[in-house]
Amino acid sequence: MLSELRRVDRDVYEAVLDEVRREQTDIELIASENYVSLAVLDAQGTVMTNKYAEGYPGRRYYGGCKHVDVVETLAIDRAKALFGAEHANVQPHSGSQANMAAYFALLKPGDRILGMHLDQGGHLSHGHPKNFSSKVFDIVRYGVNRETERIEVEEVRAIAKKTRPDLIVVGASSYPRKIDFAPFADVAREVGAFLMADIAHIAGPVVAGLHPNPVPHCDVVTTTTHKTLRGPRGGIILCKQEHAKKVDSAVFPGIQGGPLMHVIAGKAVAFNEALDPWFVGYQGQILANARALAEELLAHDFRLVTGGTDNHLIVADVRSHEVTGIEATHILDRIGITVNNNQIPFDPLPPTKSSGIRLGTAAMTTRGMKEAEMKELGRVIASALTHSDDAARLRLLREETLDLADRFPVYPGVLRRLYEQERSAGE
Ligand SMILES: Cc1ncc(COP(=O)(O)O)c(C=O)c1O
Repeated sequence: MLSELRRVDRDVYEAVLDEVRREQTDIELIASENYVSLAVLDAQGTVMTNKYAEGYPGRRYYGGCKHVDVVETLAIDRAKALFGAEHANVQPHSGSQANMAAYFALLKPGDRILGMHLDQGGHLSHGHPKNFSSKVFDIVRYGVNRETERIEVEEVRAIAKKTRPDLIVVGASSYPRKIDFAPFADVAREVGAFLMADIAHIAGPVVAGLHPNPVPHCDVVTTTTHKTLRGPRGGIILCKQEHAKKVDSAVFPGIQGGPLMHVIAGKAVAFNEALDPWFVGYQGQILANARALAEELLAHDFRLVTGGTDNHLIVADVRSHEVTGIEATHILDRIGITVNNNQIPFDPLPPTKSSGIRLGTAAMTTRGMKEAEMKELGRVIASALTHSDDAARLRLLREETLDLADRFPVYPGVLRRLYEQERSAGE
């Protein structure tokens, strides 16, 4: 295991080993992360990385593509089956590139996109001033209601009528509630706009039938593959047959060259795992865990954006514990809990500081944790943020998280095998 890497490049090997250790010993609550299966890891470490395959299965610009064609066709068919989509493009290297290709497929430069405010849940690629999206397109925004902190479709309708966008993006990076796509489709129809859903965060619950599926309501749907879907890092685009040609040519030759065939192999494996009935139970546990963690945080006097969660993620306002989001992130780092600081709606603080933290339960659910462990984590988080000046208490809390991490190994046995290999190589 990693023995050739160890032999030829000690520096990279050491960094990878350190990352294996970090993933095992830390509690991962970053909502956009997960641990892929060993089969997905295997697929990504294969010779498929060697192959150039510009084009699509059966229509490549390079010879020798018959085996990568098998893998890409499997990934496409499985993605279509998972989401009930007419067409799937599995080549985007990332979620941002899936979004870029989707925009280019349906719009011309200068066209208007209505997306969600970034400080209220939207993603950089939905119109951040420094992102390509706002440099190429004219961005207008909708947000959440100040009182409910939820998306109110009537408010979106009013903004859409006033601004007449060419495309509406629905989907978010830090919105903890269900999104009903059908009313968005009504709004889009009413103003003559395309509708695009970005379900990067909620793709897992969507395929498990635990969240509304946008595919029947949207012109295009994009998602990352590495969050709740638990695949390799990357993106995909789903669309109606009428947009298939435009989507494919927007990805290649539009914005990408050769696809990452080893990653597409990983996507095919992950999609097969997601088609298994086991996946429904797994996604159900992710949601149950998020609810349990939210309840515990509420019990410790945190204010949660929207008051709770319907999906895998929670945005907690940490001002109640007299810290900023970035301070909370650093304190939790000290006790081995990894989160990210996150703005809350109408945040008075800039994104670098922020008033909140975002937490997600996909990764720890993959490790086998259930509601009891979520309650324990909620208590540990509250204790750390309440007593952040008490070094002795933080040390005790670190012991507690180490014990928890130990009881729920990421890749059972892998660390032990690596240590044994180290020992025997050193002898
Ligand atoms: C809603 C949403 N869309 C797109 C992306 C972009 O994905 P990537 O980081 O792969 O570009 C993210 C990433 O967090 C996201 O949350």
